[in-house]
Amino acid sequence: MRIQENVSLRDHSTMRLGGEAHYLAEIKNIRDLQEAYSWAAGNHLPVIMIGRGSNIIWRDEGFGGLVMVNKIMGREVLAEDNHSATLKIAAGENWDEAVKWSVDKKLSGIEYMSLIPGTVGAAPVQNVGAYGGELAYTLLELEAFDARLNAFLKLQNHECGFSYRSSRFKTADRGRFFISSITLNLRKAPPAPPFYESLQRYLDEHGIDKYTAKTIREAVIDIRQNKLPDPEKVSNNGSFFTNPIVEAAKFEELKRAYPQIKGWPVADGRIKIAAGWLVEQAGFKGVHDQQTGMATWPNQALVLVNENAQSTQNLLAFRQKILDKVQQMFGIPLEQEPEILP
Ligand code: EPU
Repeated sequence: MRIQENVSLRDHSTMRLGGEAHYLAEIKNIRDLQEAYSWAAGNHLPVIMIGRGSNIIWRDEGFGGLVMVNKIMGREVLAEDNHSATLKIAAGENWDEAVKWSVDKKLSGIEYMSLIPGTVGAAPVQNVGAYGGELAYTLLELEAFDARLNAFLKLQNHECGFSYRSSRFKTADRGRFFISSITLNLRKAPPAPPFYESLQRYLDEHGIDKYTAKTIREAVIDIRQNKLPDPEKVSNNGSFFTNPIVEAAKFEELKRAYPQIKGWPVADGRIKIAAGWLVEQAGFKGVHDQQTGMATWPNQALVLVNENAQSTQNLLAFRQKILDKVQQMFGIPLEQEPEILP
C-alpha cells in the first residue's frame, strides 16, 4: 500500500469541488486498512474513509489527515435455501454492479436501487433507497473496523441505526467505523405489487406485467436515466436535499395556500413533502446561476449541478439561495443530503 501526498480531492467527489488531502491511500484489502489506520494513528492524523465520492462534498480547505479510498473487492454467496440467498459483498465494489449480480441470480430485494451511483460500502452510511426499496430492508449485517475499539467487528441490522437516508454512520458515530463488507438476504420470490407510484405508472405505460427482478431493474434504469444526470458525466450528488417531514397540521395549512403541493403520509402520521416540488416552486428548476457557476437539473430540481463553480464556497452560496427562498415561501428548513467533509 502506497501513501500519496497532497492529492486533489476533486476527483474523489462527483461534485468535483474541494481542496487537497494531505495523505491519501487506496485500500485493497483488510490488511491495507489496518496498516493505513495504524500509520495515521501513529502520526496523530485523522482518517476518513470514502468510496466513489457520490454523496460527499469536500471543503475548499481540504483535509489535513489521511483519506482511505475503499477498493476492497469480492462477492460471494454465503448460503442459499429454497426461499432466499445470503450474499456477502466487499465495500469497494460498485453498487450497481452488485445489484446486477444479484438480479442475474434471479434474486429480489435491491433491484429497486438499480443505477444508484457509488460503492457498496457507502450504501449503509446514508441507507440508500429508491422506488420503494431501502438498503435497511435487506441488510443482515456488515463488517467494519471500529476505530474506537481498534478491531474489526460485525454490526447487525438493528445496530446500524437506520432511518430515512440516515444511519449511525453519518450521525452519532460519524467517522468511527470503516465498513469493509455488507451481507444481504435476498428473496427468490419475484417482486410483487404494490409498487412505488411512479414505478407502477411506468410499468403500466410500457405494458410490463411480468414482474421479475430483471424487469423491475430495467424499468428503474430507464426512469432514472430519463430524470437524473450521470455523475460520471455531469458533476452532481443526486438529490441534494432530503424530503422534509412535517406535522399533518402544517401540511394542511400549506395545502390551503398551495393546493398542488405533493406529500405522502409516513408511519407516524406526519407527512413527507416532495422537496423537488418545493425547490421547483421556489423558482429553481433548470436554473443556471451565473454568480456561482451552479445549476439545477432541468428534469429534477432537487439535483444541484456544478457547471463551472470555482469552489465549494460557490456551491454553498447557491445552496443558501435555495434554502432562503424555500424557507421564506413555505416556512420549511430543507436539510442537506450529501455530507460535507471533513
Ligand atoms: N417534483 C417536482 N419537481 C421537481 C422534482 C420532483 O414537482 O423538480 C415532484 C414529482 O413530480 C413527484 C415528487 O416531486 O411528484 C417526487 O419526485 P421523485 O419521484 O422524483 O422523487 P424525489 O422525492 O425527488 C426520491 C429520492 C431519490 C429517489 C427517488 C425515487 C430523496 C431525497 N430522493 O426523490 O433518491 O431516486 O425518490 O425513489 O429521498 C438520491 O437520494 O440521491 C435520490 C436520487
